Amino acid sequence: KKRVGILISGRGSNMASLIEAAQAPDYPAEIALVVSNRPGAAGLVRAQAAGVATAIVDHRLFPARADFDAALGRAFEEAGIELICLAGFMRILTDGFVQAWLGRMLNIHPSLLPLFKGLHPHRQALEAGVRIHGCTVHFVVPELDSGPIVAQAAVPVLPGDTEEMLASRVLAEEHRLYPLGLSLVAAGQARLEGGRTVFANGSRTALGLA
Ligand code: GAR
Repeated sequence: KKRVGILISGRGSNMASLIEAAQAPDYPAEIALVVSNRPGAAGLVRAQAAGVATAIVDHRLFPARADFDAALGRAFEEAGIELICLAGFMRILTDGFVQAWLGRMLNIHPSLLPLFKGLHPHRQALEAGVRIHGCTVHFVVPELDSGPIVAQAAVPVLPGDTEEMLASRVLAEEHRLYPLGLSLVAAGQARLEGGRTVFANGSRTALGLA
């Protein structure tokens, strides 16, 4: 099993879905460490309750982004982490950190990328008037929300939707999609190659396709 570290900043519901999925005996990854940049993140309590090791790397204690990222890297290396999942992690990582983990770091973003990058994707979707919205699991590259796509899920935008209603419909799909995306990468069925995601034979089955 691949040793996975999760980076969070807040609630940690996606983290919890990964922890739960990884409890299945045949899941190809184990969640070995959860790191938060916010000491008060609710996700830390959830991780501890599930028996997962946690660490706090408070970005406010570091003079520069590079120092913060170096501390993150040390925490993951000391725990023998092989793959990182960003799960509601709300800090921009330095190019150096991203390059060091290229092909070994995933993110989930609540939109059908490349649409609606950055903050408030649900608000952006409502303003654009799209009828279909969703979420994306992708490899992390230096440019924000721009890495090669591993998996996506779609939801309808319904008449009368508020930002909150849309967010919660997407979140339910995130909780299904992230465990699937991580399993593909951990099992070597999806990998980053030459700036693209390459899917191995058999990944159709893992994706639930005929
Ligand atoms: C999730 O919707 C996640 O996709 C999003 O923040 C939420 C975190 O919720 N991430 C981003 O916007 C990343 N830029 P969670 O802490 O309950 O997983």
